[in-house]
Amino acid sequence: MSNLSRRNFIKLGGAGAVAGVATVVPVKQSWAESKQRNPGATTLPYPKVTIGKAGDLPENQAVSFTYPDEMSPCVVIRMGAPVPGGAGPNGDIVAYSTLCTHMGCPVSYDSESRNFKCPCHFSVFDSEKTGQMVTGQATENLPRIRLSYDEKTDTLTATGVEGLIYGRQANII
Ligand code: FES
Repeated sequence: MSNLSRRNFIKLGGAGAVAGVATVVPVKQSWAESKQRNPGATTLPYPKVTIGKAGDLPENQAVSFTYPDEMSPCVVIRMGAPVPGGAGPNGDIVAYSTLCTHMGCPVSYDSESRNFKCPCHFSVFDSEKTGQMVTGQATENLPRIRLSYDEKTDTLTATGVEGLIYGRQANII
């Protein structure tokens, strides 16, 4: 009798524990998965910042700007041929944060290899493949700046960031 009661108690305790966990874990998992998919996710809206005219951008040269605020250095590049995620009339314009995702050193664009290279620990990121990490100490891709393009005015506008800018808990601070 006492064993049965104990078993029932354990069963109830177990069921209660599972029910308790079941109501909490999916929420935690969902949050973690969401952060994993978009680590720079923010509940605050991104600003829309005009970068300039697509036709003014030199081909295969990095042009500096800041986004989403003045403390976040970025570059925009007209690659000269369409690339994944590219904006502009030819789908060949991309923009990235220039803070290395390893320890925040400024990366520089190498127009010959078309990669970003970090001078600190030699991480390399592919500008033609959405900032994908190629090699080195970094474990995250270079954050990509989302761009929109207005055909009528030939204007490029920064509208968001994919990935977490180095040193931030969220991209909008
Ligand atoms: S800071 Fe860029 S590889 Fe370490």
